[in-house]
Amino acid sequence: MADTLYIVNLKHYRNAVGRSFRSFMESMGRFRHVENVVFAIPHVNFPDAHAMDGFRFFAQDIDPPSGFGAYTGSVSMDVAMEYGISGTLLNHSERRVSDERIASVVQRAASLSFDVVLCARDAEEVRRFSSLNCRYIAYEPPPELIGGNISVSTARPEVIRQAVEIARASGKSLLVGAGIKSRGDVEKSIDLGASGILVASGVVLANSPPDALSSLIV
Ligand code: G3P
Repeated sequence: MADTLYIVNLKHYRNAVGRSFRSFMESMGRFRHVENVVFAIPHVNFPDAHAMDGFRFFAQDIDPPSGFGAYTGSVSMDVAMEYGISGTLLNHSERRVSDERIASVVQRAASLSFDVVLCARDAEEVRRFSSLNCRYIAYEPPPELIGGNISVSTARPEVIRQAVEIARASGKSLLVGAGIKSRGDVEKSIDLGASGILVASGVVLANSPPDALSSLIV
């Protein structure tokens, strides 16, 4: 389905980030100009990403807007966009942030048309985040499913159905992530109402990451 969104989170995997980034993304060449495939990448590789045309890149996190100035260590949407980064994950279960930071990032992102995938760990957070002005809510359960072989669509179907209803009621698209390893996991997620998936180890750590990603696309 062409409108299903696939977000490949490179996380901090040795074979995909830092000095490995360019070779990893070159291996993903078949996904250039594939609009429904996005790669979530570390800040350090923004310049490399900018030199690789045809891919869609998101950040894995972004700092709240402070403008330019004496903000040591800040990584802003404004600079990310200079490198062609068009969105970000936010509040990922491995990088949770405060509600204040979420509200500040989402508000600024909306004014810049910078996509935000706001990650929620349960239906209550999906409900709370659905009132915010961001395009995507991602249901990512607590870490025990992440990196595992039981997908969230198998382990938590009832939560996904509930989360889809909550998100839809606010005009949001719900994505799901954790343990996605097969096309069946993707189809199950879509059947439950999800608009896309987030995947990391099932693709990035596969023997052939491009073949693994191709095998997930329905
Ligand atoms: O951002 C998605 C990620 O947390 C899922 O990880 O390895 O279970 O696909 P994984």
